[in-house]
Amino acid sequence: MKVLITGGSGQLGKELIESKPKGVEIIAKSRSLLNLVSKESCLQTVIEHRPDWIINSAAYTNVEKAEEEKELAYAINSLAPKYFSEALNEYGGNLLQISTDYVFDGKKGQPYLPTDEKNPLSVYGFTKAKGEDYALQILNKHKKVNIIRTSWLISPYGNNFAIKVIKAILKKKELRIIYDQIGSPTSTKLLANACWKTIALKRLKNSIPEIMHVCNSGIASWYDIAFSIADIGSKMKLFDDKYSIHPILSSDYKSKANRPTYSVLDSIKTFKKLSLQQIHWRNSLELILDELKESID
Ligand SMILES: NC(=O)c1ccc[n+]([C@@H]2O[C@H](COP(=O)([O-])OP(=O)(O)OC[C@H]3O[C@@H](n4cnc5c(N)ncnc54)[C@H](OP(=O)(O)O)[C@@H]3O)[C@@H](O)[C@H]2O)c1
Repeated sequence: MKVLITGGSGQLGKELIESKPKGVEIIAKSRSLLNLVSKESCLQTVIEHRPDWIINSAAYTNVEKAEEEKELAYAINSLAPKYFSEALNEYGGNLLQISTDYVFDGKKGQPYLPTDEKNPLSVYGFTKAKGEDYALQILNKHKKVNIIRTSWLISPYGNNFAIKVIKAILKKKELRIIYDQIGSPTSTKLLANACWKTIALKRLKNSIPEIMHVCNSGIASWYDIAFSIADIGSKMKLFDDKYSIHPILSSDYKSKANRPTYSVLDSIKTFKKLSLQQIHWRNSLELILDELKESID
């Protein structure tokens, strides 16, 4: 089975490549060979490789910058999934589109179900929501698309929140972290497993909902995550225990993009459907810090 992975240099893309199941041939191209801004590039890649699946994990992920680069974010997050969907519709193959909790406005106050109405607050959220819509419009009639929404990725890769916090603690910086935005941290390992399991079950003709939510169990604020990184990291002796982390309100943080204050995703049904164990985010964080330990030493 051939699987084209976009965004192979990103956090999730790296994990997907690392956790590739037996019997899967991966096609992963750098941006210079597959640029999602180009319709031609998306189409030609499908024609050349005829993948059985595309896992579209690439995205314009800078939520702040997207407010200024609306057209670029729209091209990458909305139009590329559309072009892939059109090409798969014509030449065969399925799409696994990765999406986000930021398609919601956060006003529900309870964990979001996959069927809840979207109402994004930011350009990033809007463009990801449009990407979902295009993919469903084009491919859902033939059951050739699955959307996995996830949130607050944590991993040992790239320059993500966990790594930024560790670097700041090592530089003895005083950290001020938002505590009034609540979400579900998600380890890329857990998410990559869910992606591969979805594809495996679909191949066995299992019926899988077209939209699923995948995140670790437990909820947290950014402050909770930063505090846990500091707490676990100091117990692991990654740094000493003289860190200084203060909770702040979103209104005390200058930001161009509006973010939902409560974007917890209800993913209990997904884990049942995929027969996977949903582990608590703090346990995943411990594993990530353990992996990072060697690069920090
Ligand atoms: N990070 C989160 O907390 C979070 C939360 C919810 C959902 N998600 C979704 O999860 C997915 C994976 O996120 P991530 O954090 O792993 O992303 P990431 O680390 O920011 O990586 C983004 C990837 O997209 C690629 N990319 C961006 N523009 C491209 C273009 N024009 N052509 C080709 N490739 C391009 C990047 O390639 P380069 O290396 O060349 O830049 C990189 O490989 C995304 O769909 C994202 O929307 C993420």
